[in-house]
Amino acid sequence: MNDTIRTILDRRSVRAYRPGRIESKELDLILEAGRYAPSAMNQQAWHFTVVRDREMLDKLESSFRTVFLESGIEALRKVAGRDDFRVFYNAPTLIIVSGDSTALAPSYDCTLAMENMMLAAASLGIGSCWMHAVMMCYATEKGRKLFNELGLAFPENHEPYAAAVFGYRAAPLSAPEPRKTDVVTIIG
Ligand SMILES: Cc1cc2nc3c(=O)[nH]c(=O)nc-3n(C[C@H](O)[C@H](O)[C@H](O)COP(=O)(O)O)c2cc1C
Repeated sequence: MNDTIRTILDRRSVRAYRPGRIESKELDLILEAGRYAPSAMNQQAWHFTVVRDREMLDKLESSFRTVFLESGIEALRKVAGRDDFRVFYNAPTLIIVSGDSTALAPSYDCTLAMENMMLAAASLGIGSCWMHAVMMCYATEKGRKLFNELGLAFPENHEPYAAAVFGYRAAPLSAPEPRKTDVVTIIG
C-alpha cells in the first residue's frame, strides 16, 4: 500500500487536542494542499481564514454551543448538553474555507480543499475534525451577526462552505469507524 492510500485510510476525526499551535511550516503545507484542490473551471473562488486567536475561538465556541442546544436536532442537543463539551475540542486552530456564492460550484470547491487539508494534516501527524457548527451558525441571522461582531469577515459575496479544527492530538488515534461495504455498484 502506498503512503497516500495509507494516509487516507488512517485519517480520523480527532476530538482531543494539545494546546500548542501548529508549526508555521506545517500550517503553510496544509494550506498549500488546500489551494491545490480541484475547482470547477479552475475558478479557485475560495478564501482560507485561519483563526488562532484564543479569545475569538472561545467566543465562537460558546456561541456554537448555544446553536447546538437550540438546533432542535436531538443528537446535537445531547452532546452539547454535557458539562465537559467543547465544540472545538480545545483545538488551537480553526480553518474556514469560504467561497464566492456566485461561483460555479463553491460548496464542492471548498469541501475538496478542506479534504485535501485534512489529509495533508494527517500525513504530517496533525489531527483535524470537521466543524459543522460554523456553517449552521452562519446560516442564521443571529450567527452572521456574531461573526460580524467578532470581526470575522469574509471576502465580498463569500460564505463559509467548509470548516475544521486542526492541532496536535492529545491522545492516540481511535480505531476507525466501521465503513459500509454494500455501497458500490460496478457496471461492466
Ligand atoms: C458534513 C460533516 C459534518 C461533520 N460535523 C462534525 C461536527 O460538527 N463535529 C464533529 O466532532 N465531527 C463532525 N464530523 C465528523 C464525522 O462525525 C466523522 O467524519 C465520521 O464520524 C467518521 O469518522 P472519521 O472522520 O474518524 O473517519 C462531520 C463530518 C462531516 C463530513
